[in-house]
Amino acid sequence: MSSIVTITFSPCIDKSTSIPSLIPEKKIKCAPPKLEPGGGGINVARAIKKLGGEATAVFPSGGYTGKFFDHLLAKDNIPAVIIETGNETRENIIVLDESTNDQYRFGMPGTELSEDEWRQCLKAVEELKDAAYIIASGSLPPGVPLNIYAMLAKIAKKMNAKFIVDTSGEALKHAADEGVYLLKPNLGELSSLAGKKELRPGEVKNIAKEIIAKGKCEVMVVSLGAAGAMLVTKDITEKITAPPVVKKSTVGAGDSMVAGIVYFLMEGKTLVEATQYGVACGTAATMNPGTELCRKEDADRLYSLIQKGNIH
Ligand SMILES: Nc1ncnc2c1ncn2[C@@H]1O[C@H](COP(=O)(O)OP(=O)(O)OP(=O)(O)O)[C@@H](O)[C@H]1O
Ligand SMILES: [Mg+2]
Repeated sequence: MSSIVTITFSPCIDKSTSIPSLIPEKKIKCAPPKLEPGGGGINVARAIKKLGGEATAVFPSGGYTGKFFDHLLAKDNIPAVIIETGNETRENIIVLDESTNDQYRFGMPGTELSEDEWRQCLKAVEELKDAAYIIASGSLPPGVPLNIYAMLAKIAKKMNAKFIVDTSGEALKHAADEGVYLLKPNLGELSSLAGKKELRPGEVKNIAKEIIAKGKCEVMVVSLGAAGAMLVTKDITEKITAPPVVKKSTVGAGDSMVAGIVYFLMEGKTLVEATQYGVACGTAATMNPGTELCRKEDADRLYSLIQKGNIH
């Protein structure tokens, strides 16, 4: 049976809370914290589960925080291949200031991995032989080479799996130079991939076509925040508008989008349908507070709105 695999080199425990107001020097009383396992590929696997699918998450995990991380992920019933590491898994803190409704996101540095540890992660992916889709998502921690997603792209080709990358900067450039199945940059990531300072939405199509023509990817889904997304392949150019919703938090929108795309592709849907579902899932994620990912019922409702072209 074919399957979905995600790889996350820099997983984290996301600790979310809220406070009456952010004031320096004073003790601030926080609401009971919510703890969730996070990091790009981890979120994608969790969102796929919420949509009714299944993905195996491959990730490094270390120390007491790592054990706790593994426990949180197991509570969500996510199949996991865990590479034990010497250093502790990191924790991030997300704080909502209720007086302003501003959300502060404190990200701790990624846990350094040794060469032996990151090589074990690659080997673990290689051993998941029935993978139809491999998704690499998220930043790279210290110790991991910037061309690791290019190495994974090679592995995916050997395995006959479709490789999807959602990352930024140099890691994204290296992956694209090797050639992958699908890239999901936002506007900022696309402009840096194209070596430009800034991009206007009107330029997206031509830039994406150029990147595809150079063999860097077969499919590009450029996410455009509240505006939705643009799907580009050699033959397709399709703008998908996001339905208007009351936005609570955009954290996890990109990961929910990737989850929706892969979940639908795995179900045998077309690229246009999969991108429409991806937009529905990304937008559904913004309806929830904090780090909460998309809910299936919201995603399904938004998808039917998109399909009917019933968006104003
Ligand atoms: N403010 C918003 N309103 C409605 N939908 C949104 C909004 N922000 C994001 N989305 C949805 O989520 C998708 C992905 O969002 P975005 O383009 O912000 O990705 P991203 O920059 O990669 O996000 P992330 O910060 O999660 O990595 C969009 O294509 C859209 O469907
Ligand atoms: Mg993103």
